[in-house]
Amino acid sequence: MKYLQKSDPEIYQIIQNELTRQREGLEMIASENYVSPAVLAAMGTVLTNKYAEGYPDKRYYGGNEFIDQAEKLAISRAKQIFQAEHVNVQPHSGSQANAAVYLALLEPGDTVLSMSLSEGGHLTHGHKVNFSGQFYNFIHYGVNIKNGLIDFDEVRELAVKYRPKLILAGASAYPRTINFSTFKAIADEVGSYFMVDMAHIAGLVAAKLHPDPVPLADVVTATTHKTLRGPRGAIILSKNINRLEPNSKKNLAQSIDSAVFPGIQGGPLEHIIAAKAVAFKEALSPEFKNYQQQVLANAQILAQTLQDNGLELVSGGTDNHLLLIDLTNTGHSGREVESALDEVGIYANKNTIPNEQRKPTDPSGLRLGTPAITTRGLKETETKLVGELIVEVIKNIGNENIKKKVKNTVSELTKKFPLYPEIL
Ligand SMILES: Cc1ncc(COP(=O)(O)O)c(C=O)c1O
Repeated sequence: MKYLQKSDPEIYQIIQNELTRQREGLEMIASENYVSPAVLAAMGTVLTNKYAEGYPDKRYYGGNEFIDQAEKLAISRAKQIFQAEHVNVQPHSGSQANAAVYLALLEPGDTVLSMSLSEGGHLTHGHKVNFSGQFYNFIHYGVNIKNGLIDFDEVRELAVKYRPKLILAGASAYPRTINFSTFKAIADEVGSYFMVDMAHIAGLVAAKLHPDPVPLADVVTATTHKTLRGPRGAIILSKNINRLEPNSKKNLAQSIDSAVFPGIQGGPLEHIIAAKAVAFKEALSPEFKNYQQQVLANAQILAQTLQDNGLELVSGGTDNHLLLIDLTNTGHSGREVESALDEVGIYANKNTIPNEQRKPTDPSGLRLGTPAITTRGLKETETKLVGELIVEVIKNIGNENIKKKVKNTVSELTKKFPLYPEIL
């Protein structure tokens, strides 16, 4: 960092300010985490200098001896974690991974069945503002309004009616276990491909704390930077490596690889791929399983604390790392609460809830997650305190004295759990 400080003091200072913000705040955004110093180190390396279009041993540029070693290691570790037949570690992001799968499996205009964004899905699952909703014919299922759970009667009904080429399971804001077997049975019944986007729960799946979609789905995408705690990016796992795709000389894995490169990406980010390899090594350790167990335990105590204090949770609780508060009865919107929490150094995001009656930009829900605070070392006692602080802010949203008091408590708590002490 001393080189950066000297050559570009402005950017250096911005990075320092962000480090301070992260150190002094409580990160409750369900899709965020803190990578290890080893993962950080791998990202800031000379591997960024190298063009490596193609795949290991089949590159379009020379000089890839060591790059190939890093990418092969990332692939073999990811295969080991998820027992996958084939892994592509090159997608720059979760959105790119999903785009590559659609390119590999679909023709423009093909029908896909997925969860709607407003009930927990993701923009790349066919929202009209996203390429996915513009190029393909997405039909959406949602959750049962009464219990907040995926409505499998609706999924099956829509699948039988529309005969989608692809059925997609996976979500950004679904606090419950996803039953992949039921999805698979429906996909088989109507002859669809079955894809799972496990971006949010990849770390839980790696630790075997969520049912595993890999043996069931044709293709699984995952971001690497959420519960999996790696660098920003994604991977694609695929199977049926011995089955040729209809009207194609390629098997599924080859189709996916061609869709990533040259389909939608150019040169892979090999410094990020090396950092993915480092994160995968960490995910194979026994400590990683303990970490994921603590993520779940912290989510349970957080849910309990919020409910004990009169807040309502969509689906009545959580089975995973995240939960959704339905703020309707508090008289406050998600945007109001997000910004009040911001003021005290607790970071969360506004979110739509099932059967949302407000605008997506100012919805009725707030999403909270425990992956980042758990990485930081908070356990049940401290997570309960965090829940109580969140309640205090929601119940006293305009009260500056209370917010000052909560901010002080956040500051005391974060000092007890130093973040990146090894970075000056
Ligand atoms: C389920 C799901 N899929 C895909 C993505 C997209 O990932 P990225 O932001 O890396 O493009 C997200 C990100 O939040 C997600 O939650």
